[in-house]
Parts: sequence; structure tokens; C-alpha cells
Amino acid sequence: ITERKRVEQAQKESETKFRSYINDAPYGVFVHNEKGDFLEANKMACLMSGYSEEELVGMNLSQLIPQADQQRSRENFHVLTEQGSVYFDIPHIRKDGTVRDWSVNVVKLSDTRFLGFTLDVTERAQADEEILRQANRAKSLLQIASRLNAALDLKAVLRATCEETCAALNVPLSVFLLYDSKSRAFHLADSSGLPPGLANSMKPLPQSVYDELVQKWGKSSVIPVLAHMPDLPYAELLREYGIKSYAYAFLERDAFPIGLLVAGAAGEEYILTEDGPELLSGLADQAASAIDNARLFTEVQERLRQLQSLRNIDMAITGSLDLRVTFQVVLDEVTSMLKIDAAAILSLDSHTGTLKYDSWRGFRTKDLKNIRLPFGEGYGGRSASKRQSIQIPDLREVEPDPVQGPLMAREDFLAYYAVPLITKGTVRGVLEIFHREPLNSSRDWMTFLETLAGQAAVAIDNAELFYKLESSNIELLRAYDATIEGWACALDLKDEETEDHSRRVTDMTLHIAQEMGMKDEELVHVRRGALLHDIGKMGIPDEILFKPSKLAGDEREVMCQHPHYAFKMLSSINYLRPALDIPYCHHEKWDGSGYPRGLKGKEIPLAARIFAVVDVFDALTSRRPYRKAWSQEKALDHIKQDSGKHFDPQVVEVFLKKIDNLI
Ligand code: C2E
Ligand code: SIN
Ligand code: SIN
Ligand code: FE
Ligand code: FE
Repeated sequence: ITERKRVEQAQKESETKFRSYINDAPYGVFVHNEKGDFLEANKMACLMSGYSEEELVGMNLSQLIPQADQQRSRENFHVLTEQGSVYFDIPHIRKDGTVRDWSVNVVKLSDTRFLGFTLDVTERAQADEEILRQANRAKSLLQIASRLNAALDLKAVLRATCEETCAALNVPLSVFLLYDSKSRAFHLADSSGLPPGLANSMKPLPQSVYDELVQKWGKSSVIPVLAHMPDLPYAELLREYGIKSYAYAFLERDAFPIGLLVAGAAGEEYILTEDGPELLSGLADQAASAIDNARLFTEVQERLRQLQSLRNIDMAITGSLDLRVTFQVVLDEVTSMLKIDAAAILSLDSHTGTLKYDSWRGFRTKDLKNIRLPFGEGYGGRSASKRQSIQIPDLREVEPDPVQGPLMAREDFLAYYAVPLITKGTVRGVLEIFHREPLNSSRDWMTFLETLAGQAAVAIDNAELFYKLESSNIELLRAYDATIEGWACALDLKDEETEDHSRRVTDMTLHIAQEMGMKDEELVHVRRGALLHDIGKMGIPDEILFKPSKLAGDEREVMCQHPHYAFKMLSSINYLRPALDIPYCHHEKWDGSGYPRGLKGKEIPLAARIFAVVDVFDALTSRRPYRKAWSQEKALDHIKQDSGKHFDPQVVEVFLKKIDNLI
């Protein structure tokens, strides 16, 4: 029972839902019986007839049909009962007495129930026409929108707008003027169907004309008969070329003029179709946003290129030790980004007080090296001394400079800019740029030029800093190595019988280390470590170190502290820490029986494993206070014997292979 109830409940819910769809449907829905009495009606059916549902239910459908159509209505009813469905258009009388055309579609549900759908089609004819027009308009706008959205540069946007304007309005001429904020005028930018010769005669429209037009005729309008309006922009001119009427629409963005779109027709009033003005405004709107996009895109691209350009210079600064290479990169970027013919960087020689050409490009003159500008003279010299940019967009408009004038003339330069290179408050030089045509720079352009000059100044600063650092580093390293060699020497001198021991073992160790694949940067440390290997012996009392006989157990214990002393002495010096392997570990043994830490096998740093072999060989073949020098054969025998015990077998192998060259 519960299951059945649940199913019933679900059915009821579904029916309610379905009923609500029907009730809210955008067309009339009703049910009547076999006599034509209404049984049910939805909201739209009530709206269409003007009766409430209560009123409709109880009425007969014949009451809604005008007298003249009763007969046709009855025939339709007959078809319905015979064939199960019928579809027809017929007038209905509303409650207020007005007559409307309904389109009706009725199906037979049962012998006593008929379901009808109906639409008021009185305005269908008009509506159809309107829909078609709207569709056409939408199509035109959609077409241009998609074309404009794909066009990311201004030229393509203008082109598309002009072409689509002619196509959408079916006119022979379209003209696009762009607003230029500098001259405050609209200039011809592109056109479609513009007769040759006319383009040159179309003077820019000043802003005042725009203000006047907008005030008088609005932001878009149709001028049906140009002959009646000879004062309108281009009216007479266009008429000479057979244009009899035109429509215009201004393009705006945030209440700021962008341009003017004009469509011209060859017949009078021809352009005055209902859609013309609206379409033209639509096209203008689309074009305005596309131009905005294109400008934005161009700007973003330009910024990206500027960023890339700065990055190139940055990389040159950090990657190159040679200032001249960096300067060339700066000049490359300056000339290509700012689209100018030539550029140069002059640096100030503070000793002589003159500026000289360090790097240049784009000159016909081969060599500018010998040209000197006294500080404060010539354009560049003045820019440096005044610490100010100099801008000469057209050199013909200024007196030739006595210092730089001849170069300008020789090179046919017509424009000149200079930006001083200043770092930390000090003038270091000047960045000069030259062009063989007059140059009208924008604010953006100038800002970028100044940014590039800033980079050039940073490059000078960095290079100098680097050279200073580099040379001080080299000096420091030299000082260190001199110190180390001094120590080693002192050690050898202290124990005169081991003289030259340090140098010999160092050379041998380096040979073997190289043979075993250690890299140059490691060998630097190996060398220092080998030289200093027994520095720890400085901490051993002379009476033990120079004892002419075998060491006693406790003496030996003291002696075995020497690697530990080395570690203590050297580890506090940053630059010697990587060299510690040998001093600290050269008495470790391959089998783990060495000291000070009892490291085993490859736990012992390679440098120390190599050094151990070399050191013992050199010790054995040297005379010691407590024994005579061994022969080389005996020493080599000893080494072979201790391979794998005291020594790394691989090192021994290389050592034995190399030994003839080494001694
Ligand atoms: P060192 O004389 O430069 O010897 C370095 C290493 O060579 C020694 O490390 C040892 O492995 C090997 N070696 C040197 N002489 C001999 C030798 O006669 N026989 C053998 N089998 N190996 C030898 P070790 O043993 O750790 O000694 C470290 C340092 O201690 C030596 O440097 C030396 O300065 C000192 N030393 C070692 N034994 C004596 C000794 O009996 N009397 C004295 N006065 N000093 C000694
Ligand atoms: C790039 O190279 O990543 C693009 C521009 C820049 O960020 O430097
Ligand atoms: C050290 O441990 O710091 C030096 C010797 C080694 O590398 O084992
Ligand atoms: Fe030692
Ligand atoms: Fe030694």
C-alpha cells in the first residue's frame, strides 16, 4: 500500500509540474468537449480572449467566432471529429469586442475531449517583416563584429569597417576618419569606393565641426539630400563625385571622439532605408570598440617589446664583462625600438673633461673615435653639463652647432636628441640619437628613450663595479696563495730535511688528480690543500717532530694530532675550507685504520686518497731524522703491498702507471 501511495504521489507531482508548464506556456492552450464547450484554458488563452478562466469554462467556442466565420468553424470541427486533428487560421472576437486573427491547432484526445493550441497571428505579417529586418541587421553586425574582433591592428579594423559598411548598407562609398588629439581634427584614415582624387581634397575636419554637427544633427544622422545642405562637411565635394546623400555616425569612447564613419549613396534619399542609420550606428559602435581593442593590443605589444628590450639590455649587462658589448645591445634596442637612423654613446673622461664616442651605429662616418666633445660644448656636451635631455626635432630650425654641426651636415641628420647618462648623481656620458628626417616624438617615446639611457648608465656603473670587484678579488686571491706558499715554505724550512717536499707532493698530486678526472675548479683546492697538508705539524713540539729516533706511544699520539690542528687552523678561513680534504684526511687509510677519524674507502675524500700515496712515497724516499731514505724500488714495493690496505687500489694503479713521468 505504501508503495502504491508513493507511486500515486509521484504521478500527482509530475502532473502538477506538467500542468504548470502548460499554464505558463507562451501560447493559448484549451480543452473543449464534442459540443465545443470549453472545459479548461491556460493563462495565455485567457489573455488572448480577454475572458477569465472561470468565464471561458462554460462558454462555447462558437461564441468567440464572428458570424461570417461560423460556417467555416463548423466545417473545421467536422474535420476534427472525423480525422482527429485540424489546423486553421480564423478570427476570434475578444471580450472587448475587438477581432483578432488566431491560428488554431486542435487534436482529439477522446470522443469528449479536444486539446487546442492557439496563437494570435494578427501581427504576424508585420512581425515576420520586422524579424527578418532584425535578423539582417544582426547578421551584418555579427559579421563585422567577428571580423573586427579578429582584427588586432588598427589598419585591419578600418579596412573591415569600410568594407562592411558598403556591404551592409548597400552603398558605393564609405569613409572613415580618425580623430587625432594632437591636431584636434578628424583625418581621412581609410575608405571604400572613394574616387581617386577625392581623397586628397578631403581636408581634416576640425573638432569645431564635430561639435556643431553633434549639436545640430546628433551623433549619427542621415542627410537625405546633400544638395539642400551645402554647408555640411564634404557635401559639395562629394556631390561633385556623384554622391547625393549620406549618413554619418561618430565613434566615441568614454565621451571622447575616436572617429567618424560616413556612408555615401549615389541616389537621393537612397540611403534613407529604415535600417540605414541604425546599421551605421551599430557599425560605428563595433568599430569604436574594435579600435579601442586594437589600440590596447598595440600598446600591450609595444610595452612587451619594450620590456623585452630592457631585458635584452639587462642580460647584456649581467652577461657581459665588456661594456662595449652592452653598449652595442643598448644601441641596437634604441635604433630598432625607437625606429631611428643612428645612435651613439659617449662617455665622459673625467681626467680630460671631454666626451668621446665609445659605441655608435647607423653612421656613414666609419670611425667616430677621434671626435671629442668638450664638456659643455656641442649638443651632447651641453646635455651632459646641464644634466638635461636635448630635443631638436628639426635641425634646420636651429643654428648649426659649431662643434657638432659639421657631423650632422655630413650625415644628413635632420633630428637630434641627447639624454645624459647619470648614475648616483654623477654624469658618466651621453646617449645621442640621430634621424635623417624630422622627428616628432610622443611622450611615451621620450620616456622609453630616457629609460634606455638609464639602462646604459646602469651598465657603465655595473661594469665599473665589476672590474673593481674582479680586480680586488684577483688581488685577494693572489695574496692568499702567496700566503699559503709562504706557509708551506716556512714548514719545509723548519724541517730542512723535508725541503721541497711540499712542492714535490703538490705537483705529483695534481697530476694524478687530473688523470683521475678532477675538474680545474677542484684542482685549485687540491693544490692549496697539498701545499698545506702538514701545516698541522706547526702545532707539534720540536722535540717530537725532530726526534732522531722512533716515537714513543705518547709522542706518536701527539704527532697524530697534526691533521686535527690543520683542520682547526684552516676551517675558519672561508676560502680555504674547500682545501681541507688533504690536510685533514691525508692520514686516513683505505681499510679504516688511519687517523684522525678512521674513515674507510670512499668515505675518504678522493684528494686525500691520492695525496696519501704521494706523501708516503715522498716520505719514504726522503731521509728522516730517524731513518735513511729508502730506494724508489723499495718505496714502490711498499706502496704496492699496501694497496687496498693503506691505499686506494685505483689510486695506486694510476700512481704506478704515472710514476716514471713523475720522478
Ligand atoms: P712523514 O715523515 O712525512 O711521513 C708521512 C707518512 O709516511 C707516515 O705517516 C707513514 O705513513 C709514512 N712513513 C714515513 N716514514 C715511514 C717509515 O719509515 N716506515 C713506514 N712504513 N712508513 C713511513 P705517519 O706514520 O702517520 O706519520 C706521520 C708523521 O709523524 C711523519 O710524517 C713524521 O713526521 C712523524 N713520524 C712518524 N713516525 C716517526 C718516528 O718514528 N720518529 C719521528 N721522529 N717522527 C715520526
Ligand atoms: C620574456 O622574454 O619573458 C618577455 C618579456 C619579459 O618579461 O622580459
Ligand atoms: C672535513 O671533514 O671537513 C675535511 C675532510 C673531509 O672532507 O673529510
Ligand atoms: Fe702528515
Ligand atoms: Fe708530508
